[in-house]
Amino acid sequence: MANEHVLVVGAGQMGAGIAQVALVAGCHVSLVDAADDAVLKGVGRIRAGFAKLRKKGKLDAAAESAALGRLETHTAVRDVREVDVGIEAVVENEEVKKRVFQELDAVVRPGGVLATNTSSIPITRVAASTRRPEAVIGMHFMNPVPVMQLVEVIRGAATSDETYQRTRALAERMGKTVVTSKDFPGFIVNRILIPMLNEAAYALMEGLGTAEDIDTAMKLGTNQPMGPLQLADFIGLDTVLFIATVMHQGLGDPKYRPCPLLRQYVDAGWFGRKSGRGFYTYQP
Ligand code: CAA
Repeated sequence: MANEHVLVVGAGQMGAGIAQVALVAGCHVSLVDAADDAVLKGVGRIRAGFAKLRKKGKLDAAAESAALGRLETHTAVRDVREVDVGIEAVVENEEVKKRVFQELDAVVRPGGVLATNTSSIPITRVAASTRRPEAVIGMHFMNPVPVMQLVEVIRGAATSDETYQRTRALAERMGKTVVTSKDFPGFIVNRILIPMLNEAAYALMEGLGTAEDIDTAMKLGTNQPMGPLQLADFIGLDTVLFIATVMHQGLGDPKYRPCPLLRQYVDAGWFGRKSGRGFYTYQP
């Protein structure tokens, strides 16, 4: 549907990225975060993303100004009206997400979609906290959202075909390729990616090689844009540990046990790029 009203809750890196691709796709976008400065930061991220597209000649001044004209910002979900698709991109905390879904339930039109960008929380459980589980779906974007080609669409136990088709169509209008996953821990991408990152942490802990050796081996040996330790720092070691723990508990198999070194770094507050230190150190 052209001109869909998309509400994005959470103006962090993921939320701002989702808002950016929705604006470029021609949607009217409401971006919500709890505090004014978080919203402003999100808008700054979108503007910076547009500047990159301008520099590459992928967006002209008129299109940028039209896209920014379709953006509105709020500090409460209840202030937004007549939403076609609500996309939640807040912190990976089930209670917080369930609260956001109850708010979305109140502002998304009948027949609309309530999507979550969760990387690990079961869609079926989030859906059960609303009055319309058939309208709830997982729409898992990859980081950085404007650059990465993929969206994983995850159907919960009750997700309707109509919800699935609308979500898929929106992701495709955003220029993304869609894969469909069942609602099991880690979905497809993280089910395969997180064990690799966790194994790289074990390799480092066991002294198999230095961090640089491990990353260079995987970058040049398997043609990846980043080595696994570098990618773990990029995603955030707290996030990697959280997803690994969800998979370990949810799948009940010891092969998914999180690496003690990863746990120790998170205990130390070494979350990767965002905190300035992880497997590597970063300049602010
Ligand atoms: N908006 C628009 N364009 C953007 C942009 C933005 N916000 N940010 C970057 N770009 C563009 C740049 O202009 C550049 O364009 P060209 O290719 O046309 O020159 C391109 O994107 C690449 O950007 P950079 O040159 O800044 O970056 P790079 O070449 O060093 O690549 C990277 C950076 C894309 C992050 C690359 O290292 C990479 O692909 N890394 C792996 C990322 C990955 O695996 N992500 C998935 C993580 S898993 C996940 O997200 C799921 C989960 O639940 C944990």
